[in-house]
Amino acid sequence: MAREWAPDSWQDFEAKHLPRYESAEALNEATQALASHPPLVFAGEARALKADLAEVAAGKAFLLQGGDCAESFAEFHPNNIRDTFRVLLQMAVVMTFASKQPVVKVGRMAGQFAKPRSSDTETQGDVTLPSYFGDNVNGIEFDAATRTNDPQRMVRAYFQASATLNLLRAFAGGGYANLRQVHQWTLDFMGRSPWAEKFAETADRIGESLDFMEACGIDPATVPQLQGTSFYTSHEALLLPYEQALTRRDSLTGDWYDTSAHMVWIGDRTRFEGSAHVEFARGIGNPLGMKCGPSLETDALLKLLDTLNPAREPGRITLISRFGHDKVEDGLPRLVRAVKAEGHPVVWSCDPMHGNVIKSDSGYKTRPFDRILSEVKGFFAVHRAEGTHPGGIHIEMTGQDVTECVGGAVAITDEALKDRYHTHCDPRLNAAQSLELAFLIAETLNAEHSQAQANAA
Ligand code: PEP
Ligand code: CO
Repeated sequence: MAREWAPDSWQDFEAKHLPRYESAEALNEATQALASHPPLVFAGEARALKADLAEVAAGKAFLLQGGDCAESFAEFHPNNIRDTFRVLLQMAVVMTFASKQPVVKVGRMAGQFAKPRSSDTETQGDVTLPSYFGDNVNGIEFDAATRTNDPQRMVRAYFQASATLNLLRAFAGGGYANLRQVHQWTLDFMGRSPWAEKFAETADRIGESLDFMEACGIDPATVPQLQGTSFYTSHEALLLPYEQALTRRDSLTGDWYDTSAHMVWIGDRTRFEGSAHVEFARGIGNPLGMKCGPSLETDALLKLLDTLNPAREPGRITLISRFGHDKVEDGLPRLVRAVKAEGHPVVWSCDPMHGNVIKSDSGYKTRPFDRILSEVKGFFAVHRAEGTHPGGIHIEMTGQDVTECVGGAVAITDEALKDRYHTHCDPRLNAAQSLELAFLIAETLNAEHSQAQANAA
């Protein structure tokens, strides 16, 4: 029998990367306010995502998860939300077209604020201040007042998340995501990328397919899948007071759900046995992600899976590997083999971002596009060799024309990084780089699809 669980039972466990607040009273005031605010998602939606992810786990669909490393109050703007959404739609269309499989779309959006940091403090010159922990904890400007943790920031993040989610829901269901609009999703500055042209070709072919279906008597206006799309939200469930305050009992099933997002994940630094974050996650009904980096032992992973998914429910767990381009082919197979041997029905997803951070000569934290690509290729190669499904991709990206990751077809050079380096935390793929990555993944998915058809023939 598992121990009793409650939304606050994590408080008896070892919590790493949680902010300390000067005033318990101020913290209480903020979490009380949050606890009285409406849920952001409904439990039934989280179950719908779990069902979609079960299809991924069964090898019948692909997961695309992406968005900011850290959302910020400063970058909160409808155009930013729209542009990230449409690049994700473009990526999904490209991958669906190649794989002939549905692509489950999950944003790192509407709640992705809190960040674990390698150091608690940051020193500039002879001044040392607390590190920046995400806009829902403290501010990024390097001054003592801004770097002080303020629990009211959680309330502001909640309202930003709710407005973001509202717009995403409107785009997903209100006509913007209609497949007839596929040409309109192209961003102007994509024009410089050779992949923009390739996207226009795909869009033409989709248009022709829709015309053909219409001629056959299938009216796209009456097919909901062509009119809109399902789009889900997710973030790292790091800031547990926030997550706890939004954890509610589902009126239909009586089960607990974290209503701050459809899916939440446990980060690489908080996924140890006995962790407060694992304790919190095990009691909520949402689909869960867990980052798997080089330090994760096979036995520890199996134990965590038993804790988080004792019923072995497909779609419940997505394992997001993030080894680094040079470590994935050595490190991942042992985990994949063990999980397969134990019969845990997981989604395997690849985060090619967090193992590939370097400091550029000009001093910026960056990620070379070729290393990102190489980790994705390594991930596919491992799954091909193990006979498992390479189920998804988890990326840090934006619809903006930023210069944060070096490389890509519209090559971002080290010197160019300073031009539009806007991220509040890790470097993100820009719109053109994201689309390029989607085409390169599509090629692999297409080859797998052809192989599967040949095997079936
Ligand atoms: C992240 O996804 O932003 C992150 C911090 O990743 P990881 O936990 O894998 O380091
Ligand atoms: Co990050």
